[in-house]
Amino acid sequence: MATEEHKNEMDDSQRILHLLFEYMPKIASERKVDSLLVLMNDLGRSIVRSDRCSLWLLDKEKRELWTKVAHGVDELRIPMEAGFAGHCMTTGESLLVEDAYNDERFDRRSDEKTHYHTKSVLAVPLKNSVGKVMGVYQAINKQGEPGYFTPKDLENLSLIAVYSAKTVESTMLNAELEATQRDIIHILGDASEYRSQETGDHIQRVAEVSYNLAKFMGLPESYCQKIRLAAPLHDLGKIGIPDAVLNKPGRLNTTEFAVMKTHSVIGREMLRASKRKLLRFAAEIAGTHHERWDGTGYPDGLKGEDIPLSGRICAVADVLDALSCPRCYKEAWPEEDVRAEFIKQRGTQFQPELVDVLLDHWELFYSGYRNRRI
Ligand code: C2E
Ligand code: SIN
Ligand code: SIN
Ligand code: FE
Ligand code: FE
Repeated sequence: MATEEHKNEMDDSQRILHLLFEYMPKIASERKVDSLLVLMNDLGRSIVRSDRCSLWLLDKEKRELWTKVAHGVDELRIPMEAGFAGHCMTTGESLLVEDAYNDERFDRRSDEKTHYHTKSVLAVPLKNSVGKVMGVYQAINKQGEPGYFTPKDLENLSLIAVYSAKTVESTMLNAELEATQRDIIHILGDASEYRSQETGDHIQRVAEVSYNLAKFMGLPESYCQKIRLAAPLHDLGKIGIPDAVLNKPGRLNTTEFAVMKTHSVIGREMLRASKRKLLRFAAEIAGTHHERWDGTGYPDGLKGEDIPLSGRICAVADVLDALSCPRCYKEAWPEEDVRAEFIKQRGTQFQPELVDVLLDHWELFYSGYRNRRI
């Protein structure tokens, strides 16, 4: 009997090891918190062989626990004090319950709402790096014998709870940092736009047009996302241009235009020192969005494919926007003139393939401007 038990335990460790090997690479490479929760829920369910398993995370502001059961399904939310999960959340203690209906901590309302019958329950707290409870791993209804969870199940779920807590914590921190980076980029972009009194949201429109140009050029989604994030900084250097030049109502003379042209180098220099890849990518855009395909642009007179692709794309987006909207120095051009200008500059100012993409999808690219002007 003792050896039989020992053998079962060994089999179980093997099974769990296999599950861990299967899930760890997926979990380690997942960057979105909700997808991570879906994976953790599946892993937990397989490990303790339960009918259901949820990794609940605390939403402090709403005083709720939330989780995600499957892709495309809305998140689930419960009050943070409710039922077994709530008990585990507030006390920080694990629970092993054979029959929920014999336990006064059970909150029957969720069964009534979902027409589900909860019997056995296992819940372990998820603690963050400073020991605070940040959520609950809860498994419901043990499948197979003995029909309820054992201390061994509790031990197993507790082990992956430790690992889950670390993973969720760092993924959330990462998401927070990325969101912060995005916000700062927009604040900086808006600052250059605000100074130059450009109408509407030049910055955001150039970003969207750049994104769509990149997409239609068949570039990978990650590149398209990157250019959308970085393009708002293309004119950051305008922050360094004196008001008298930047906001001059009429045409610039040669001296003034020479000053104006430095915005491209100023922007590049502001951004290129950064250790952040996204900001260095923005430096490339700032430094090359006024280069021309035929080599007569500024600041470096780069030609053709020597101009970084990001700069070639942003050049098209920038000019589409500049011509289609009023500026302090000019009226918006009529649609047909804008189109004609791109046809004229195909292969001189702009890379031919980019102009082709723009013209092929003209409706999509121009419709935003048409609606604005009505
Ligand atoms: P922006 O207003 O964002 O314009 C971006 C680019 O759109 C311009 O780069 C140019 O390539 C194109 N573009 C804008 N308006 C016209 C136009 O009437 N005709 C043609 N063919 N292209 C046009 P560019 O020329 O290097 O100018 C860079 C920035 O310098 C402009 O950014 C704007 O802020 C400023 N700027 C350029 N010309 C004048 C001007 O005559 N007066 C004033 N006040 N600012 C100017
Ligand atoms: C850069 O050096 O940052 C961009 C390429 C250039 O315009 O020289
Ligand atoms: C292109 O030219 O459109 C893509 C290849 C490159 O980066 O030059
Ligand atoms: Fe510019
Ligand atoms: Fe611009």
